[in-house]
Amino acid sequence: MFPKINPTTTKAWQKLAKHFEKVNDVEMQDLFTSEMNRTEKYSIQWNNFLLDYSKNRMTSETLELLLELADEVKLKEAIEAQFTGKLINETENRAVLHTALRDINNLKPDVKATLSQMEHFSEKIISGSWKGYTGRAITNIVNIGIGGSDLGPAMATEALSFYKNHLKTHYISNIDGDHVMETLKNLDRETTLIIIVSKSFTTQDTLTNAQTVRSWFLEKALESDIEKHFVAVSTNLEEVSSFGISEENTFTLWNWVGGRFSLWSAVGLSTCCAIGYSNFEQLLNGANEMDNHFREAPFSENIPVILALLSVWYNNFFQAETEAVIPYTQYLSKFVNFLQQAVMESNGKSVDRNGNFVNYQTGTVIWGSTGVNAQHAFFQLIHQGTKLIPCDFIAFKEALYGNEEHQRKLLANFHAQTDALLMGTKGTEVENNFKSFSGNRPTNSLFIKKLTPQSLGSLIAIYEHKLFVQGIIWNIFSYDQIGVELGKKLALKRLNS
Ligand code: F6P
Repeated sequence: MFPKINPTTTKAWQKLAKHFEKVNDVEMQDLFTSEMNRTEKYSIQWNNFLLDYSKNRMTSETLELLLELADEVKLKEAIEAQFTGKLINETENRAVLHTALRDINNLKPDVKATLSQMEHFSEKIISGSWKGYTGRAITNIVNIGIGGSDLGPAMATEALSFYKNHLKTHYISNIDGDHVMETLKNLDRETTLIIIVSKSFTTQDTLTNAQTVRSWFLEKALESDIEKHFVAVSTNLEEVSSFGISEENTFTLWNWVGGRFSLWSAVGLSTCCAIGYSNFEQLLNGANEMDNHFREAPFSENIPVILALLSVWYNNFFQAETEAVIPYTQYLSKFVNFLQQAVMESNGKSVDRNGNFVNYQTGTVIWGSTGVNAQHAFFQLIHQGTKLIPCDFIAFKEALYGNEEHQRKLLANFHAQTDALLMGTKGTEVENNFKSFSGNRPTNSLFIKKLTPQSLGSLIAIYEHKLFVQGIIWNIFSYDQIGVELGKKLALKRLNS
């Protein structure tokens, strides 16, 4: 296994600390004047992606030192350990291999078998050859799951609405019974498919919701009809079977797939049904292409690595408290929620990989919402507030319905905001301080040709790898989630008292 290094003891970290003293006050506006080719220099073009990270509070020396840090913490070895299935999730003694789910040409036999089960099942549901208990085709799918068993598929299905077929999808996650009833109230039992998704099949919220939906179904149908309307996705085949779901209707996954990285597995079944198998395969392919980029590209040209290093720079040296993600497309309205679990469940840790409490900052707080909505909500604070909030701006060049007028306005806003955050009102006369904008507020611009299943797959994988890199640098275990257990236990205790 790769070494467990306290990052603050590395030479690079110490150099970065000194370097920070020097560049802390340097303004990006001046960097752009002194380095004419800054945008070209700090951009990475990969497939249909362009990352422009020039609008960051960094110089070429900053970048060199950050790259040195990546080398010193043995990032390369860590990446290889992950991809080759080493037990890097040490607290759970597990490998972390969601990347193996999307390496379509090299799938392990059991992964291939489940994927082909998904393919056949989704084809039957879409074509209508799968019949409900009264002989009618399925029109609505309800996914019952929470956390990683909800956020990934819900986000991806929403993001790929343009590619969706006639099936309507619904997601029940909260144990809030009112939400369950609101979802069910317009559904017809005869044409509804329920997918119960729980990696553990012990999650109280999901099982309670599943029982409620089961009772709703049985108000009109018989126990023997369940097999036509309920399927499950889980690693816990025993519990699935005691819930009354047959083996043929069970889709499995493996303990080396973390919940928040599971949308690539059968957890993505609702998405696969909604967009069709070939689109689902494109989603996997896109992620796989990003995996290859992450694994092979030199760190200086590696999108996830650069994003992670910059985030560490702000988190640990500028002491930035949060970072915002602003996708300029309504299709990605659930992307930030998804990222919140991926990033904050992974890196919200304060014990290092040696078992000691850390004395430096770890996991970033992720928040945000879609542009331009965000501009009319919280951008005031990002522009003129006292906090430093590095932002990732994400935009797609082409509109899917080809509405050029809207797209021009959308993208004009995207560019205008990053320019305003960079330049502020520096160099222009303002009437008073109220009207002054300091600028010098960092942004990354991720500009993608078009929203497709493929590009969505790559985009998600960027953030998965980014958080991994950060976990390696911070010397924490990114793949467990022990922090959610105590609250669960106490809720049970209250219920039983
Ligand atoms: O409570 C956190 C968590 O364990 C997540 O990590 C996971 O994605 C979610 O609960 C749901 O777990 P399961 O799929 O086992 O029901």
